[in-house]
Amino acid sequence: MASVSEGFLDLTAAWQGRGVVVHHDAATGTWIFIAIHDDTLGRAVGGVRMRVYPTPEEGLRDALRLAEGMTLKWAAAGLPFGGGKAVLAIPRPLTAKQRKGLMLRFGGLLNTLQGAYATGPDLGTTPEDMKQIASVSEHVSGVAREPGWPEDPGPFTAAGVVAGIKAALRHRMGSDGFSGVRVLIQGVGGVGEPLARRLSAAGADVLLADVDEAKAFSLAVELGGSAVNPEAVYVTPCEVYAPCAVGATLNAETIPRLGCGIVAGSANNQLATPEDAERLADRWILYAPDFVVNAGGAMAFGLLHAGLADPEELEERVATRIGESLGAVFAEAAVEGVSPLVAARRLADRALGR
Ligand code: PHE
Repeated sequence: MASVSEGFLDLTAAWQGRGVVVHHDAATGTWIFIAIHDDTLGRAVGGVRMRVYPTPEEGLRDALRLAEGMTLKWAAAGLPFGGGKAVLAIPRPLTAKQRKGLMLRFGGLLNTLQGAYATGPDLGTTPEDMKQIASVSEHVSGVAREPGWPEDPGPFTAAGVVAGIKAALRHRMGSDGFSGVRVLIQGVGGVGEPLARRLSAAGADVLLADVDEAKAFSLAVELGGSAVNPEAVYVTPCEVYAPCAVGATLNAETIPRLGCGIVAGSANNQLATPEDAERLADRWILYAPDFVVNAGGAMAFGLLHAGLADPEELEERVATRIGESLGAVFAEAAVEGVSPLVAARRLADRALGR
């Protein structure tokens, strides 16, 4: 985890990206970071995350890491965008009015960048926030630009994760049926909830955990699944663990305790360090690299904005691509004797011409 002593300067100096915009929003006390990691394939596109961080430095660190993840995500998905991400490091939860004001000013900041970065929703921001930003700026990718376009990337991300879990089941067990398969979903928000609904409809046993325990419980009751105490996530026996909330949940402390055979979920930056991919492999846990399996929402909106797909075909396109990519990643990893993370990075590197 982060050492608190690392300040803006150290973090920025250690980062291999294009640049980062730092802005302090005095009205709300929010630090705004816009990290542009790479523009080899196109202009930087990625979501905006809003959170209370322990320190502003943690917010900057998150933006830098998330932007790099977007570079890999677009490259692995074969879409013509670069890696970028924004963070709104709020000092405390905002009122509706403060939030709207912040979104509008963030939109103004995007305008000064003249398209070098376009935003979308991420953890802590909603389709409604995107509408606010889009009311003042055209640099919003995660928004319905035309009638008939979807408003929320979450269900597409969920569709991609379902396809990813199926690819992992095929690789591990030779078949991708969900009967008798327990999937533990950590976080039942914008992606976790639609994911739970899809998996339950497909016949999986869903185990749901959320920091909002009442939310996990009521969804579990509705779907005939069970709720899991957030503290118990890492020791609960299951076939598939799907992290769908914060990052870095796979680390030296949690991996030895995991009770799953497959990790496939939508959270960004699931591994605390790259070595955690080896730790998972040593425990014979199959890891679906986050930037491949969680690309569905970004892909869906990216395809629309680039004029490469119609709304009706999005879900199918996303699921097919993610299922095929992960199948290829798992196969390459097995043949070459490397972790799926290494194989997925090679896939992205090839697309980036590295
Ligand atoms: N938050 C999305 C992700 O991490 C990014 C995104 C969604 C970008 C929708 C554009 C449109 O993948």
